[in-house]
Amino acid sequence: MIEAPNQNFVREIPKEYMESLARIEAKEAAEAEAASAAKKAQQEAMQAQITAAVDAAVAEERAKASGDANAADAGDTVGANIDWSGVDSVDMTLFYPGQASFEFVQNGKQHGGARPLTKGGDQCTTCHAKELNNIGNKIVKGTDNTEPTPIPGKRGVIDATMQAAHDDENVYFRLQWPDAPHAPAPFVDGGKMDPENQIKVAMMITGTGIKMGEQVGCWATCHADNTYMPFDPGPEAIAASGDVAEMLQAKQSIQKYLSETRTKVEIKGRRGKAQGGWNKLKSAEEIDQLLADGTFMDLMRVYADGSATNGYLLERRVQNDGDITASAKLSAGMWTVVFSRPLTSDKPGDVPLEAGKTYTVGFAIHDDFSAARFHHVTLNTSLALDDETAQINVVGR
Ligand code: HEC
Repeated sequence: MIEAPNQNFVREIPKEYMESLARIEAKEAAEAEAASAAKKAQQEAMQAQITAAVDAAVAEERAKASGDANAADAGDTVGANIDWSGVDSVDMTLFYPGQASFEFVQNGKQHGGARPLTKGGDQCTTCHAKELNNIGNKIVKGTDNTEPTPIPGKRGVIDATMQAAHDDENVYFRLQWPDAPHAPAPFVDGGKMDPENQIKVAMMITGTGIKMGEQVGCWATCHADNTYMPFDPGPEAIAASGDVAEMLQAKQSIQKYLSETRTKVEIKGRRGKAQGGWNKLKSAEEIDQLLADGTFMDLMRVYADGSATNGYLLERRVQNDGDITASAKLSAGMWTVVFSRPLTSDKPGDVPLEAGKTYTVGFAIHDDFSAARFHHVTLNTSLALDDETAQINVVGR
């Protein structure tokens, strides 16, 4: 009797509740429909890619059979001694970071993870490894804090695969990712920021003695006053800086740099202060000492025609004489970039790669004729020779 429903407590369900329930159900149905449409589109795209790859392979075989060497394959000599089919590949998500600078990530007012990053020793991947799709797809559409000039139709993430190998002398990297339709940048004439290069690939290797270098990877070099960043000082302020502009070889804008090369880098930006520290340059002697101590970011860049440059980032971007060879190829909707350099090098600005050590590296792809910050990047990524515990295991061959 006690358990029986008490008629005195009967209440009508409020109209607002029913309406809101209907709204939520409609919203969820729409979301499910969108998700299923997106999945279908993805499957179709993949099918198209497979078909194209098969067509290309057939054409290639025919060309070989008729003794007609494919000119585009000339670059395949880089890493030709490596049987890539026997090298495991690692999935890498490169996401679109917008204007999220090293200052931004350290500033609690701008970034939710600032404190655990600066005080707790967390790495970027500690919090973000699994949500790069969300972050990239959100920023690329435009946000108040991190993307004031979105490029309509640009993708938010690039799903790439990486294979890495070494022999006694050299290290070899092979990066592959799907091409995407052109999305013109509305803020440049013709929509292509770098019309010469449909793609570019960059790799950084973190040197020693860089504050938070192992936690943040490339972010150690990305500042709020770099090119196309919110506190880009502009050509007039650069020209007025005299010696600083000369030392940085800067005219239009400021390249990436390490905070270690500056006497002060503004993070908080209170009372309208510009974030960054482009003009707070240390002396040439101090900067030379950093280079001698290994405090720099090794930087390799590959261009769309397969040419490549070796260098490093310190007070600015510097090209050095370190060896590097590369190839870049678009085939059946897939980009394949292979590059190689000596494991060890006596050139200042090259981080030697030694067995038994783990390195923090980062990769960037400049997709679709983009330049400067309009790229896709990895978070901090670990790399080691013949070590399965590293994200990128560079296997001996
Ligand atoms: C302790 C966890 C934590 C760490 C470590 C961390 N973050 Fe975050 N990050 C967050 C939180 C929380 C947010 C806010 C999420 C939101 O707004 O939905 C965020 C947001 C972001 C965003 C999105 C900004 C936007 O406009 O939406 C970017 C980009 C980002 N973090 C990059 C980084 C990078 C790069 C690092 C390493 C240098 C890093 N984070 C380290 C927790 C973290």
